[in-house]
Amino acid sequence: MSVLSAPERSLTALADLERVDGRAKVEGSAAYAADVPAASMVYCHVVQSSIARGSLTRIDTDRAEALSGVLVVLTHDNAPRLVDIEDAEVFVLQTPAVAYRGQIVAAVVADTPETARLGADLIDVSYQVEPAAIAFGLDEPVQPQSAAEIDRALAAAPVRLDVHYATPPEHHVAMEPHAAAARWADGRLALQESTQGVHHTRDVLARLLDLPPDHVLVSSRFVGGAFGSKIEVHPHTVTAALAALALPGRTIRLVLTRQQCFALAGYRSPTRQRIRLGAATDGQLQVVAVDVAEQTSRTKEFAENCQGPAARMYASVKRHTSNRQSILDVPIPTWMRGPGCTPGMFALEAAMDELAIACAVDPVELRIHNEPLVDPESGKPFPQRRLVNCLRVGAERFGWEERDPTPRARRRSGWWIGTGVSSATYPHARIADNAARIRFQADGRYLVEIAAADIGTGSRTALAVLAADALGVPPSRVEVELGVSDLPEASVAGGSFGTTSWGAAVIAAARAFRAQHGTDPGPGAESQARGSAGDLADRSAHSFGAQFAEVRIREDTGEIRVTRLLGVFSVGRVVNARTARSQFVGGMTMGIGMALHEEGVWDSRYGLVVNHDLAGYHIPTCADVEEIEVVWLDEDDPDTGARGIRGVGEIGITGVAAAIANAAHHATGVRVRRLPLTVDDFLS
Ligand code: MOS
Repeated sequence: MSVLSAPERSLTALADLERVDGRAKVEGSAAYAADVPAASMVYCHVVQSSIARGSLTRIDTDRAEALSGVLVVLTHDNAPRLVDIEDAEVFVLQTPAVAYRGQIVAAVVADTPETARLGADLIDVSYQVEPAAIAFGLDEPVQPQSAAEIDRALAAAPVRLDVHYATPPEHHVAMEPHAAAARWADGRLALQESTQGVHHTRDVLARLLDLPPDHVLVSSRFVGGAFGSKIEVHPHTVTAALAALALPGRTIRLVLTRQQCFALAGYRSPTRQRIRLGAATDGQLQVVAVDVAEQTSRTKEFAENCQGPAARMYASVKRHTSNRQSILDVPIPTWMRGPGCTPGMFALEAAMDELAIACAVDPVELRIHNEPLVDPESGKPFPQRRLVNCLRVGAERFGWEERDPTPRARRRSGWWIGTGVSSATYPHARIADNAARIRFQADGRYLVEIAAADIGTGSRTALAVLAADALGVPPSRVEVELGVSDLPEASVAGGSFGTTSWGAAVIAAARAFRAQHGTDPGPGAESQARGSAGDLADRSAHSFGAQFAEVRIREDTGEIRVTRLLGVFSVGRVVNARTARSQFVGGMTMGIGMALHEEGVWDSRYGLVVNHDLAGYHIPTCADVEEIEVVWLDEDDPDTGARGIRGVGEIGITGVAAAIANAAHHATGVRVRRLPLTVDDFLS
């Protein structure tokens, strides 16, 4: 454990700093990718395939090209050539092949957005259609991967559970749609982009365009939500770059419509999960077997890996997991908040509730009873595993003790009332070798520069706190500049590892600055350093939490309301209380959406997401959220991350859907194993 220097002890005092960019956002002066002004701006609108598989036989662009104001129409016939980097998602407008419905097959650039869109509507596309495989089938059984030892152990277990759970496709629907603005001049590409990582975006584009990385400048200073959908480079960004190459000197703005985002910016794969548990009569787990099926795209493989958490959540003599991917002619799934853990913890934690009932053990106690001493899968120690603390603190705050475990036992004014619990977890990771630079400015403030991303999470604020702390100055004397690719090297915002990974570099730069320039620097004094947070090689580092839910369900209509949610989290040190709390509340709210609202409905003939807008794809609004309480354990994880930080971005969603589904079962006696829970589930 490292010894903290005196200035660093001040961190707690900075922990409630207001969001440093709050005013700019509220006043509207924060410029998002589609807001950044440019002279000679022109606008691009994409044309999407209307078939799921086949090839283009003819694209008639005559009517679009004849339209006054249209500058260029790009198709695979005339678009600039890209280097094939073996990522078919970004190999845009290069071949006549169509691999999913919604693929970009043409793009129109015009002097106004309206003309570009009209031009796109005037393009006629003919296809040769090939048979496509689209249907995933949420209700199909999963065949467990054969494991004789597991089958024998299950057969011998006094209490057995063998159940199927399913989760539908879910979409990120960040408030800010995906957008890019590209300009090509003097052999360099300048790109305004809404992204979780400017260096990742730069590197992919540099490879595609065969440019040195420093000839691609990516800026993304403000991002209006992302949830994983803005990590990978998506086709619209490449389209904007191609249009820029075709029209040198012009700035090409391309903003996807909400509907276009559903096919072009990723989604969470649907899952089917077969959970088999074997336990002693007191609930002690003997076998945990989880076999899952997920969907991926023929264009590019991406696995959600929802079987992940089952292997390490609980002590069990025997464990088994398997994952099978259905390769379909569908848009490409991607990272979405709490990848793997989010659907995985729904199924596992609802099945644990079923086991608790089968063993007549309290569900909080069942989890505590199965607490492992080390990671059951790897045998490595957990540096800080405080799941039991979270469960106990939560049970006490929530009033769990008074709970009568009998389902369908509480009714008030026509509503069935129930409560449920779930564990939460998310792995801790950190990306080595980020860099940061600190420069002392003439106005007496310290400028901290790192190409990190603030996707709305508050990283600008958290990094200001860490820099102020390490420099020993008030945060009002620190300014953080991020989101531009010519700043020092930084990893993407993802995996909840941003603050700890970038923070390590910022702290290293502050120490280097003080070592080189002392405490009374002159204007222009500058230091740059690399920093890495913690070494995880011999540890199994994870965050944990407990989610408690209360629901009421109308006996006559089946309407379900989440009346209370309580989340208790163990996430290492919390750097900034305001923005961290907002991450937890946001994650838990997204969990309500997952439990009750969100379902991408796919047309299994044509591969279309039918409800591809916010009228059809529901997410929670204020009226859906009654009471959310967030608590975190006061802790520090000195061995794990920079300043003991593990990260807060994703754990908030995990376990919420299970807690709600378990509460719904407690309220009504109806066990729903497929999300989202709907009125129909409670009306039979
Ligand atoms: Mo997160 S899904 O790694 O943005």
